[in-house]
Amino acid sequence: MTSHTVRVALPGDRGADRSYDIAVGQGVLATVGPRLIAAGATRAVVIADAAVAESHGRRVRESLDAAGLETLAVDVASGEGSKAASELVRLWVALSEAAVDRKTHIVAVGGGVIGDLAGFVAATYVRGLGVWHVPTTLVAQVDSAIGGKTGINLPTGKNLVGAFWQPRGVFSDIDTLATLPTREFLSGLAEVVKYGVIRDEAFFDWLEQHQADIVAADAQALHHIILVSSRHKAEVVSQDEHETSGLRAILNYGHTFAHAFESATGYGHFLHGEAVSLGMAAAARLACRLGRIAPALVERQDRLLANLGLPIDFVAVARDLKTDDLLAIMRRDKKAISGKLRFVLPTRLGHVELVDGIEPQTVADVLEGNA
Ligand code: NAD
Ligand code: GLY
Repeated sequence: MTSHTVRVALPGDRGADRSYDIAVGQGVLATVGPRLIAAGATRAVVIADAAVAESHGRRVRESLDAAGLETLAVDVASGEGSKAASELVRLWVALSEAAVDRKTHIVAVGGGVIGDLAGFVAATYVRGLGVWHVPTTLVAQVDSAIGGKTGINLPTGKNLVGAFWQPRGVFSDIDTLATLPTREFLSGLAEVVKYGVIRDEAFFDWLEQHQADIVAADAQALHHIILVSSRHKAEVVSQDEHETSGLRAILNYGHTFAHAFESATGYGHFLHGEAVSLGMAAAARLACRLGRIAPALVERQDRLLANLGLPIDFVAVARDLKTDDLLAIMRRDKKAISGKLRFVLPTRLGHVELVDGIEPQTVADVLEGNA
């Protein structure tokens, strides 16, 4: 199967072109070395999730070696706990011990945890090194590796420290997903469905028609969903790189509810995509309650999510939690303004809007299944 390229078009900076390509397909890992050489790199530091360092990470290192790059490998323990200041310091020190200079590029191999962490290391070490993402989870291939959001967590909250730092390129090799645990794979599908609801009715139709192939991780189906999702993310990032116009905020469809479910249940109970699925189910119900969409669309979205193996019964989840606690978390959400509730809500399939000032009681009714 061939690979395809998606361009993330960005304005230049002091004469340097910041636009970059996302390669999607099979055999893409073998192209990492030649691409770094073409970009002027002389050395590479491969920062890899320990779970994939000896499989996909090794193939990346082989490509870099074959291209003639001097390569250093640093592994990072799997899991959200690695998105921490202590890990940042460990990696900064490793770079300084290796006398890394500006012709050294970082290559991040793993899921969103590694991409966010290694991206932030690249953004900050010697005030900026080139970074390339080799995403090995579905979440990372369709979302986190694209768009330059990097960062770490604090004990007081997720993703509170970070920077925008665009990669030089992204290599989404669908073969890497073969080793991904099924639950992680299905969780990533929530973000894929999200693109259909927020921007692309035809893609939503396609997902409905091919749900069996998708769940079976058929290579052609995977290729299609990663390519289309990458195009959507690339277009949104190109038009609103720093989330200033409100366009990029539409990527947070379902996320206000999702963050509340994740936080109130203790991070780790739900995978992020599972929480997003519950959150999209709740957001659609809220949109329906506000008269913005018909009940048929709520049911259609529920059906697709459930058929893809994703959870949708947010009322059952909320029943075990306190509605007031969930509302309080939503008010503290980074996207809330002065504590006012703000949601991304559909007006029809393929189109959403940012809606401010929704009454807390309306949200409570939705959470309690009274809508
Ligand atoms: P993750 O990076 O924790 O990976 C999930 C699990 O899969 C880990 O246990 C990892 O070791 C394992 N793994 C990774 N690739 C594998 C493979 N090919 N085979 C076997 N196991 C593999 O989680 P994730 O879902 O990829 O990313 C979640 C993170 O991404 C969160 O920290 C979230 O905040 C962040 N995120 C960032 C953005 C952004 O725009 N920067 C967007 C969405 C999510
Ligand atoms: N994942 C949301 C964003 O990149 O803006």
